[in-house]
Parts: sequence; structure tokens; C-alpha cells
Amino acid sequence: QELMRGNYDHYMQKEIFEQPDSLLNTMRGRVNFDKHFCVLGGLRQEMETMQRARRLIFIACGTSYHSTLATRAFLEEMTRIPVDIELASDFMDRHTPIFRDDVCFFISQSGETADTLNTLRYCKGRGALIVGIVNTVGSSISRESHCGVHLNAGPEIGVASTKAYTSQIIALVMFALMMASDKVSMIQRSKEVISGLQELPDKVKEVLKIDQEIKQIAKELIDEKSLLVMGRGYQYATCLEGALKIKELTYIHSEGILSGELKHGPLALIDENMPVIMILIKDATFTKSQNALEQVRARHGKPIVICTPECEDIVEKYAFKTIIVPSTTDCLQPILTIIPLQLLSYHLALAKGYNVDFPRNLAKSVTVE
Ligand code: G6P
Repeated sequence: QELMRGNYDHYMQKEIFEQPDSLLNTMRGRVNFDKHFCVLGGLRQEMETMQRARRLIFIACGTSYHSTLATRAFLEEMTRIPVDIELASDFMDRHTPIFRDDVCFFISQSGETADTLNTLRYCKGRGALIVGIVNTVGSSISRESHCGVHLNAGPEIGVASTKAYTSQIIALVMFALMMASDKVSMIQRSKEVISGLQELPDKVKEVLKIDQEIKQIAKELIDEKSLLVMGRGYQYATCLEGALKIKELTYIHSEGILSGELKHGPLALIDENMPVIMILIKDATFTKSQNALEQVRARHGKPIVICTPECEDIVEKYAFKTIIVPSTTDCLQPILTIIPLQLLSYHLALAKGYNVDFPRNLAKSVTVE
């Protein structure tokens, strides 16, 4: 295992920097960039059943759940079928009704998470089609599913998930594209997203270049007691996932906040001492996100803003600091905005002297409920 770390100091660092390759491996043999279509071989047989489904239900825990949140809007847009996303433990607590014409997806890096696996068995017992989206070949979830997709991201050792998350997003985006492949009205949109997929590994390389800049920001945040991460639309998942990385690795309290809810409570937290990371992207939510940024500024907050080059001018007026990432099509943007937060939590944990690969109290795969 030591050998697998190669030239990196930590597995987590290696796994963050591997993402241009792991994403490519997830897409390999599945995306036709010239003819603009996607085929996930493991799902081909079941496409008709899926297209006739009453609901598509995506069930997972932790980071894997965030990948379903990141892709929910795109899944709804492309499939036009009601999409539910569920935390496995809560799904079971509710004894949620499941029908034979539901399709249930189980997303898991390890394929062994007890809550996710128990939910799979519950849904299978009620006659739903079971789809596994897992990284670990031969894992329980992969064996017990009717069909599925392997992420092919390679082994992930760091307890905090990084490359599996971005590969999960890509797998779910490819699934959505495949579901829309016979819809004439979706041709343009599919083309746009598939070109986005093609350019993605290079854009990820661009983001990774800001590593030292992020390390500097981490040094400045070292004494903070709390860190808020705020955004909306496609960026809400990045907020929750970024906050999860920060708490897992740095033991700093961190909260992901939907900026649409800002006025319903979180605004009370904002003052000149509360560090806030805000994500601002030139997509359909831009005006509203800009509004949230102004609100935070008006309360003397000092936002660190993650944004794309198109927003730089606007952001400069309000931001205390900016982190610029390349822009891509809306549904792929969460991949480029999470990387600075992966890097930030990594550098912050190191600066605090913590074990980044094996944070206290946590396990890579949680095999008990
Ligand atoms: C643990 C890990 C997380 C992971 C979660 C779900 O809590 O520490 O990184 O996101 O389990 O794991 P899974 O293997 O099902 O994706």
C-alpha cells in the first residue's frame, strides 16, 4: 500500500491530484465524443424499464449522497421522471413505501456501507429494480444489484472521499444523458454536456494549479472556530460536500448553507468575524447568488468567493478573497468547485497537524448501522 502513494505525502493528496485521470477512467469506453452519446454497458438491458419508471430514487450516505444532490436537477431535466434523493438511514427510519415500478439506485464508493446495503435489500424485497453505482468491484452492493455501473476511479484509501465523489457525479451525468438519448428535444443539451465532459479533465488540471494559493488561504483560516459554505442551484451540493470535508478533516465546525434559505435564519450568523465561503457561478442562479453575496457584505461579512472568470469583475467589489476556477456547462461545474474545498480541507488539516488520511473517529467504510 505504501508504494501506491507514489510521490505524494498522503493518499488524500494523491487522490485529489489523480482526478483528471480518474474522471477519464470513469468515462472510458462509455462516451462517444464525436457522435455525442453515452452508453453504460451495465444498464443497457434495463433502459426500457427505467424509462417507464414511476420514480427514480437515489439512495446513499455521506459524500455519495452529495453526488446525488449535485446531479438531481440534471437527472430531472433529462429524464422528466420524478427524482428522489435519500439518505439511507433516514429512508429506513421512515419505512418509505416502494413500488415494483420504482427504480432504486444505490451509490457507494466501498459498496459495503451497512445503511445503504440494508436499504438495497428492503427495496429489492419490494420488487423494485436495483441499480448499483459503486467503485469497488465485487463488493456487496455490486453483487446484490440487478445491474449497475462501476466507477473505475481506482482504489480510494483516504477516509475522506474525493475522487470517488467526482466520478460519481460523472456516472450520474452519463446515466442522465443515456436516458435522454432518444429524445430529439435533448440533442442540443446533450451535445453541450458531452463537449463539457471532453474538456473536463483539462479543466480539472487547471483547478489543481491553484493548490499553493489555497494553501495560503488555509494558513489564514487556521484559528477559525467555524466556517460557513454558501451557494445554491448546482452549487448547493458543493456547499454540503465542502463543509463535510472541512469537518471530517479539520474538526472545525462547518455548515453548508443553501443561499435561498439565507434570510430564513443563517443571516443571523453573519458578522465581521464569521468566515464565509461563497460560490458564485454565471448560471441560472447568478442574480440570486449575487444578491446573497451583497447581503453578506452588508452585514460586514468577509466572503471568500469561489467563482468563474466571467464573474471576477462583479465579485471583486464584494469579495474579501476570490478563488477562480474555469467555467464549464452548469451540470459539470460542481466538479470544478469542489476541488478547491478538497484542497482547502487538506491544507487546513495539515496546518493543524492532523492525520489527513485517517481522521479521528471515522472509518472508510461504515459496516454497522
Ligand atoms: C464513510 C466515509 C465517507 C463516505 C461514506 C459513504 O462515512 O468516511 O467518505 O462518503 O462512508 O461511503 P460509501 O462507501 O457508501 O460511499
